[in-house]
Amino acid sequence: MKITLSVIKADVGSIGGHIKPSAKLKGTVEEFVRERGKKLLIDCYVSSTGDDVALLMSHERGIDDSKVHELAWDAFMAGTQEAKSQGLYGAGQDLLKEAFSGNVRGLGPASCELEFEERPGEPFVFFAADKTDPGAYNLPLYLAFADPMHCAGLLLSPKMAHGFTFTIMDVNHTEGDRVIELNAPEELYDIACLLRDNERFVVESIRARATGDVAAVVSTSRLHNIAGTYTGKDDPVALVRTQGNFPATGEVLSPYRLGHYVAGTMRGSHNGPLMPVKLNSTISFFDGPPVVTGAAFCVHEGKFTEPVDVFDHPFWDWVRNNVSQKAAEIRQQGFSGPAMLPYSELEYGGVVEKLGHLEKRFTVRKEDGSGHRHKAA
Ligand code: F6R
Ligand code: MG
Ligand code: MG
Repeated sequence: MKITLSVIKADVGSIGGHIKPSAKLKGTVEEFVRERGKKLLIDCYVSSTGDDVALLMSHERGIDDSKVHELAWDAFMAGTQEAKSQGLYGAGQDLLKEAFSGNVRGLGPASCELEFEERPGEPFVFFAADKTDPGAYNLPLYLAFADPMHCAGLLLSPKMAHGFTFTIMDVNHTEGDRVIELNAPEELYDIACLLRDNERFVVESIRARATGDVAAVVSTSRLHNIAGTYTGKDDPVALVRTQGNFPATGEVLSPYRLGHYVAGTMRGSHNGPLMPVKLNSTISFFDGPPVVTGAAFCVHEGKFTEPVDVFDHPFWDWVRNNVSQKAAEIRQQGFSGPAMLPYSELEYGGVVEKLGHLEKRFTVRKEDGSGHRHKAA
């Protein structure tokens, strides 16, 4: 059976700052999708990660289906009404346009979708991250699909020996989708060369070269590029099929033990380590640290099993302690150097404005010694 998995997520309001949506908001969104989606969807799972609500939906309508996208948009509109009625903070924050038009892309919510022929056993992991942007998945996906230090299957499984094709998007290009396809392992250095720049080049999807089957997809939207001003971070979602011709679930999870530094914490303007957390986790220290959740499922004829929380295990408690230490370390240096994002990525206008004022006060010293340098008193 050919099915489509669609994830559409948005921040439409939360309690106590940019922390977590209310149970009522989530309930409203879920009820809406279940009720109105009866004819469209086979199944759905509604969850939150930090202040974002994500809808994972299964159906047979293919990717970019306007009815499915409209259902999600309308559900987030209903969630926004609920957020307003409860006085939640940032109600409707990610719904950047007045009306729905064909597809949620470019309207604010993030989405990623997979269409495939179901295997007899079809395991996959749904990842959601908060306080970061889509490039946060670059390193974990590179390591899981192209590095035998994390993916033993690249050595051990003949099915995986052909490697994977990475489709990478230049998210700075706003006039259309600017993409490149690169093959691992032959073009590993080219892949790494692009993926080092998490703010510009983002893994959009990965395919198995042996079969052409799609293995992973990531939401690539950048609110920063849609709205032109700060409206929140992108808080990306991803779907990764696992096992068989694809990396094992444990290989896909392996890179998350690093807690690599990613952009997005506090005012969308600082680097922090990506912490793998339990499902439905909240946000805390310094409006962060950036977090990622993982829900593993099997899907059969479009029906989901219950989710398994992949980061709810004693091993990840140890990782979270280490990542907390990394978060504290980088915070020691406050605004200095790599702790804060570069000029082009700052999400609030304050620094740019200040530099504008200070520009006028800079002077250039004269060569003839008439400037102030070392002038005797
Ligand atoms: C939101 C985020 C937060 C906010 C900060 C200030 O995703 O990253 O760090 O930027 O809490 O929020 P505002 O500007 O809404 O008061
Ligand atoms: Mg928010
Ligand atoms: Mg968020």
